[in-house]
Amino acid sequence: MEFHTIIEPFRIKMVEPIRMTTRAERETLLAAAGHNGFLLRAEDVIVDLLTDSGTGAMSAEQWAGMMRGDESYAGARSYYRFAATVRDIFGFAHVLPVHQGRAAERILFSTVCTPGDVVPNNTHFDTTRANIEHVGASAVDLPIPEGRVPSVEHPFKGNMDVGALRALIARVGREKIPLVMLTVTNNSGGGQPVSMENVRAVRAVCHEFSLPLYIDACRFAENCWFIREREPGYERTAVKDIARELFSHADGATMSAKKDGLVNIGGFLATNDDALAKQEARLLILTEGFPTYGGLAGRDLEAIAIGLREVLDHDYLRYRITSTGYLGKHLIEIGYPIVRPPGGHAIYIDAAALLPHIPPSQFPGQALLAEMYLTGGIRAVEIGSLMFGSTDPRTGAESQAAMELVRMAIPRRVYTQSHIDYVIEVMADVFLRRDKIRGLRIVWQSPPLRHFTARLEPVA
Ligand code: F0G
Repeated sequence: MEFHTIIEPFRIKMVEPIRMTTRAERETLLAAAGHNGFLLRAEDVIVDLLTDSGTGAMSAEQWAGMMRGDESYAGARSYYRFAATVRDIFGFAHVLPVHQGRAAERILFSTVCTPGDVVPNNTHFDTTRANIEHVGASAVDLPIPEGRVPSVEHPFKGNMDVGALRALIARVGREKIPLVMLTVTNNSGGGQPVSMENVRAVRAVCHEFSLPLYIDACRFAENCWFIREREPGYERTAVKDIARELFSHADGATMSAKKDGLVNIGGFLATNDDALAKQEARLLILTEGFPTYGGLAGRDLEAIAIGLREVLDHDYLRYRITSTGYLGKHLIEIGYPIVRPPGGHAIYIDAAALLPHIPPSQFPGQALLAEMYLTGGIRAVEIGSLMFGSTDPRTGAESQAAMELVRMAIPRRVYTQSHIDYVIEVMADVFLRRDKIRGLRIVWQSPPLRHFTARLEPVA
């Protein structure tokens, strides 16, 4: 007998209480936080879907590993265990630990880029883009056309447009491109996967022009699970073997272990290039730490080594992707326009389509977030004009983002199905009152990255 209910494949042995609040309390709390979820205290949130980064629960094995951590400054046993695991799964010759993904990005791009360079990616995450721009290079997104339209269904909406990559190389010249990057899954484009076929096609173009291929590996296991589920020929392949194949096409990777490393802090930078690895290690020593700890404690390295193996477990991945899809399916049933199909780590609501009466200058995504918090104490994040737009200091006019999205990211192994059922019920209630949701205006801001600290109030 095959049963259809996919359960959380773990038991809970340590709990953290959730403080229940009333709508009246939340009204006071949200006003005090300037209608900005980043300025709320986490304990005033009932279900926190702000990010899936560093918010996961570690396993008993990982906590046991923490106790085994070797805190030697140089050559710690924990480093060798960590490096052996990364080599086993990812296959790269050199592995530098870093405290999180953006540290790997900073070291990589400040080593390989010179001003005027161009770095193509399926879709750059904001810290990746920022680190490229910080060294005077430009970051170019080349998603397939389907990747730009929320309502269009495609099994591998995270794919790179290979024709556009060729056109870019022809236009700017190969010597302006230090490397090509693929983000798996593409967070900024909806947590959508990249197919193995696309990885091979991008690899072929890189090969033709002698360009290194790097993978932003944050959510590699989720991406490989989608390959197993959706790409012909991989139905019977273990996710670990899919991952090995995927990385065998690449020359290096950046990784925030706060996602598919199943830890609260950590990451790495990996490469097959001996000379580059030496240069990168010099920068690592300058700002992160000695190359066998790179800004992490030995115990963190142990937890990553264990997390990277646990994340490849099929029961875990089946539960993970099914539970994200469960939220997506119910939001679609209620009537929410979401980025389709549901991604791996998050559901993205198209707030512009949901709230056509709120113009981008009044932040429909942020307005929806306020209503979600007031109604049920749910926190999520805006990926729209508050995050990417800016106010003209002279005219006060708002520039707008390409899309007005609200991302509901699911922390790993933290919430059960009844938490998600509660979220669905709250969202159904919000949906009924969507016409009454009012836009917001900024009363104080501090660009760049204004969304973290801006204060807003409802428009009259
Ligand atoms: N690359 C991708 C695709 C990411 O999603 C993130 C982080 C990073 C790089 C940077 O990693 O935070 O460890 O420095 N994403 C988090 C999020 C912040 O909420 O999506 P980091």
